[in-house]
Amino acid sequence: MMRFHDLSIYRKVVAVVLSVVFLLGFLSAVVIWDSLSDLMGQQLERRGAEIGNHVASLSTNHILVDDRYALHELIHETKVNTEDVKYILITDHQARVIAHTFPSGIPKGLKELNVSPKDTETRVVPYNSDEGQIRDILVPIEGGSVGYIRVGIAEEGTKDIIGRTLKKFAVIILVVCVLAVLLATKMASLITAPISKLVLVSQAIAKGQLHTKADVSRNDEIGKLALAFNEMASSLAATNDERDSLVGTLREKEYIRTTLLNKLITAQEDERRHISRELHDETGQSLTWLIMSMRALADKAADDKQREVLLNARDVASEVLGEIRDMAVELRPPVLDDLGVIAAMKKYIATYQQRFDINVKFSSVPEINNLDKRIAVALYRIMQEALTNIVKHSKATVVDVSISHNQNSIFMQIADNGHGIADDELEQAVRQNRLGIYGMKERAELLNGTFQMLSSSLMGGTTIIVTIPFEESEGE
Ligand SMILES: Nc1ncnc2c1ncn2[C@@H]1O[C@H](COP(=O)(O)OP(=O)(O)O)[C@@H](O)[C@H]1O
Ligand SMILES: [Mg+2]
Repeated sequence: MMRFHDLSIYRKVVAVVLSVVFLLGFLSAVVIWDSLSDLMGQQLERRGAEIGNHVASLSTNHILVDDRYALHELIHETKVNTEDVKYILITDHQARVIAHTFPSGIPKGLKELNVSPKDTETRVVPYNSDEGQIRDILVPIEGGSVGYIRVGIAEEGTKDIIGRTLKKFAVIILVVCVLAVLLATKMASLITAPISKLVLVSQAIAKGQLHTKADVSRNDEIGKLALAFNEMASSLAATNDERDSLVGTLREKEYIRTTLLNKLITAQEDERRHISRELHDETGQSLTWLIMSMRALADKAADDKQREVLLNARDVASEVLGEIRDMAVELRPPVLDDLGVIAAMKKYIATYQQRFDINVKFSSVPEINNLDKRIAVALYRIMQEALTNIVKHSKATVVDVSISHNQNSIFMQIADNGHGIADDELEQAVRQNRLGIYGMKERAELLNGTFQMLSSSLMGGTTIIVTIPFEESEGE
């Protein structure tokens, strides 16, 4: 069943108004019924007594001379001429009936109903006859010393009057109800119409039409609500504008940052490649020439001592050449440009395993044709930084590096079996502006990729997962 406060405002107002009107009508009807019954009853009794007294005054002599015919005539005439009088009875001072108006005898029980020879005052007794409620009014003649008159007067008439009055009252209540419903409808629409409009406005605002305005032509609570609503929408619009402009500025800054970072990385890579080439080609060539010259000189040395010095110098130069070649490779391995990222990684890992006592398992797909150079460099640099971190920080003995791809993305995963990274270590690194992890993440994100670093104290070790979207081309 629907609860009262689930009803619409219109129905609530109508229900309340109708209930009040009905209750008021019902209570008024009860009061009217009660007072009218009382009043009419009193009037009825007074009339009965008057009729009784009138008959008494006219019948005293006839009773004294026992003129029953005259008495008969008198009471019949009175009954016929007086409305509502159902019967008249005359008794002597000993309550013996000496005249009555009943054509076929006195009904049973009536004689004894209102007998009181000692009474000297009028007495009323109600009586339920076949013809309805009757009041039997006993009037003593000369204080009862001559006899008594009893008048039976019907209540029907008064009941009719009360009934008619209540009917009129009911019609009035009905009219009031109709008016109340009309009034309630008007009231409810006065309240609900602006609320419905406010609902529409709020729906528009919810859809983002923040410049929709509520009607504020009223000064009542609804007008105030509408005003508050408009203020809210305005401040919302202002906040939105501010947010949009902040987002705009932020986007612009982010664009500039990304562009700069891209340029920085490209410039850094170009520079490294340049230095690497320079070291490899120029410095390397010169050193090779120097070594060969020293060897030639050693062959032509004057004595053994000279020859030994020259050979030692040649060995040092050879070592330097080796170091310069390593440095050139570290800076930018030529394999990366010549053979591709997988080959470069394999080479790097081979040297790495030799240098450090760490077992690296490498699983990869075949070299990807025409892989974007920026992706190749990013993957290579991320692996380089990850493997360097493993040596520096993890105490790992085994590392798994794997590269795979599908049509859309290339994936790289590097997992070590070291002691992992605690949260506070990462926080500390960020505070100290360590750029290793940050740089790996940036490199992946600049290429619209993702970078995740998982460190599980349960399984031990750290895992780096990099995903970079790419388009596979069939080659030129
Ligand atoms: N594989 C790893 N195992 C354990 N700790 C690591 C690993 N990689 C990085 N870390 C931790 O994360 C920190 C941040 O690394 P990074 O940003 O590369 O800076 P840096 O190498 O200069 O310290 C390191 O200082 C280290 O504590
Ligand atoms: Mg590092």
